[in-house]
Amino acid sequence: MSEDLLIVGGGAIGCAIAWEMAGEGWKVRLLDRQKPGAEASWAAAGMLSPSAEAPHLPPLVPLARAALDLYPGFVEQLESIAGIHTDFERQGSLVVFFGGRANHTQGEFLAALARAGLDGEPLTGEEARRREPSLNPEVAAAVWFAEEASVDPRALGRALRAAAERRGVAIEAGAEVFRALIERGRCRGVATAAGEISAARVVIAAGCYSAAIEGVARYAPTRPVRGQMAALDGGAARPRTMIRSERGYLVPRPDGRVFAGSTLENAGFDKSVTAGGLRKILNGAAEIAPSLENAVILETWAGLRPDSPDHLPILGPTEIENLSIATGHYRDGILLAPITARLARAWLLGQPPEVSLDPFSPFRFASPAP
Ligand code: GLY
Repeated sequence: MSEDLLIVGGGAIGCAIAWEMAGEGWKVRLLDRQKPGAEASWAAAGMLSPSAEAPHLPPLVPLARAALDLYPGFVEQLESIAGIHTDFERQGSLVVFFGGRANHTQGEFLAALARAGLDGEPLTGEEARRREPSLNPEVAAAVWFAEEASVDPRALGRALRAAAERRGVAIEAGAEVFRALIERGRCRGVATAAGEISAARVVIAAGCYSAAIEGVARYAPTRPVRGQMAALDGGAARPRTMIRSERGYLVPRPDGRVFAGSTLENAGFDKSVTAGGLRKILNGAAEIAPSLENAVILETWAGLRPDSPDHLPILGPTEIENLSIATGHYRDGILLAPITARLARAWLLGQPPEVSLDPFSPFRFASPAP
């Protein structure tokens, strides 16, 4: 029997949509090219920070704010269904500035945020250190975001898969989709190595691999952007808030680890951790919080962010009937998972979206279908 909905991609986005639509009573099947949740969602730092991209990507702000507002209810429901704790924590974040131009850079940052519709609390270096004693004494100015939060992305992925399965979603690993089956302007399913799979609706949520699916690239010309990460044993003097600087960021986890990130690299689909990448991350980490110079390195890894040509997500129906896209979340897939699921529900049920989809239209890169 054909599914109501076939989702291609088992990361946070695909699983959140699957969970949402199974909650509507839809029969949902989810395919992942390898192990669900083992790509960008697994590699993420888990920062839920609308301010992080706001200065460069203002259209993202309404989406990011709506996502952060949804998060407490989203994880509460998820955790109660899945029985898995996701370590959601609203520890707040600091953006810190160094050097003689720190006040000027702080002012520019606040102005860019205001233009994007966000605000933060300006702090002197001393005020920032009172809030976060691990900070480098050379931090000369900062901005504080009390509402920002973090989650354990790997736990979130496990919880999403478990919750989706509890609602009857069939999740399949090792099912690589090569092509969307399109006939006379209508999508009737997908082609995999194991054969064709029919579905009434298809949503592509395959992250940076979306563009490799025939029939999809014109809407989702995604590309991978590598991010390397390190988990450090922060010790007693570790940071308690998230901290970002021009050279990196730190995300403290409740278990005492501190995630340090990251690089932005065009390395194709290569997920290697490199000496240069680690050096950059560790220098950035120790500059923010000098005690981390002595931290033990617990783990290093790299992931591939799903970038789009304008760095904004690609969300919504295409002009191919029954084919829609939810990818290109770039640096914010974990943050945007709950709002993406809600928006997908709206477009799949033919309801108005709660946040305008216009800036994220799958048509913005495509010439009309032949
Ligand atoms: N969102 C953090 C990163 O992309 O590195």
